[in-house]
Amino acid sequence: MVQFIFPKILFNSMKIRHIKELLDTMYARTWKISEPADHMIDFARTLKKKAGAILDVGCGAGRNSFFLAQEGFSLVGLDISANALKLATERARREKTQCMFVMGTFLRLPFPDGYFDAAFSSYAIENVSLQLIRRALSEMKRVVKKEGLLLVTLHSPKHWRFGQGKELAYHEFLTFQMIKNSKVEIVTHFFDREEAERLLQDTGLKILSMREILRIDEKQRAHWIITLEK
Ligand SMILES: C[S@@+](CC[C@H](N)C(=O)[O-])C[C@H]1O[C@@H](n2cnc3c(N)ncnc32)[C@H](O)[C@@H]1O
Repeated sequence: MVQFIFPKILFNSMKIRHIKELLDTMYARTWKISEPADHMIDFARTLKKKAGAILDVGCGAGRNSFFLAQEGFSLVGLDISANALKLATERARREKTQCMFVMGTFLRLPFPDGYFDAAFSSYAIENVSLQLIRRALSEMKRVVKKEGLLLVTLHSPKHWRFGQGKELAYHEFLTFQMIKNSKVEIVTHFFDREEAERLLQDTGLKILSMREILRIDEKQRAHWIITLEK
């Protein structure tokens, strides 16, 4: 069964809708990838010990949701983009995979406390300011059961975009990207190990593992891959 749930009011102003379309264009590159991220394969092994319902936060076109569903987990993918969810829903139909896709924001997850056995955000909650990352983390923690597992990715200062644009706060930069001839503002916070550890400890999550990965395609992309326990 594939479900697609629309919230009552989302993006009702023309301006927000325009920005959304531009951001969709920016994320479309990731949505074209059908294989899961490498770190999800390790995470699936860790999850095996505690199978159950899992939330994919900022699921995009669902590449990680599909992988985990095929591994036998019950998956719910949440994303703010109607375009991403359309791609995910079409793939679920095509591949006859049982995933549920929900439209919403990770800043206020539309699920009750302790609903999921695990939750993860792969390259999603990292694309906002520190203040909003805090909020997204505390939402993820809220919807996971006690002792449930979490995985998050965060930007590392070794990423090629570190230091670009206007510095808004410590390791937080405002950059502009030209998308379809429009200027879109992007806020990114980059974490060194100590700051990431402090943030996660502040949210009351226990760090199980933390490693830095570098991917070099046309430029160097650097992220922390962190697994946590509530
Ligand atoms: C770089 S993509 C990663 C998608 C997917 N996790 C993957 O690895 O393929 C980031 C995703 O986060 C979603 N996103 C951005 N802001 C969001 C928000 N406030 N709430 C929910 N999803 C959001 C975007 O629509 C996009 O699909």
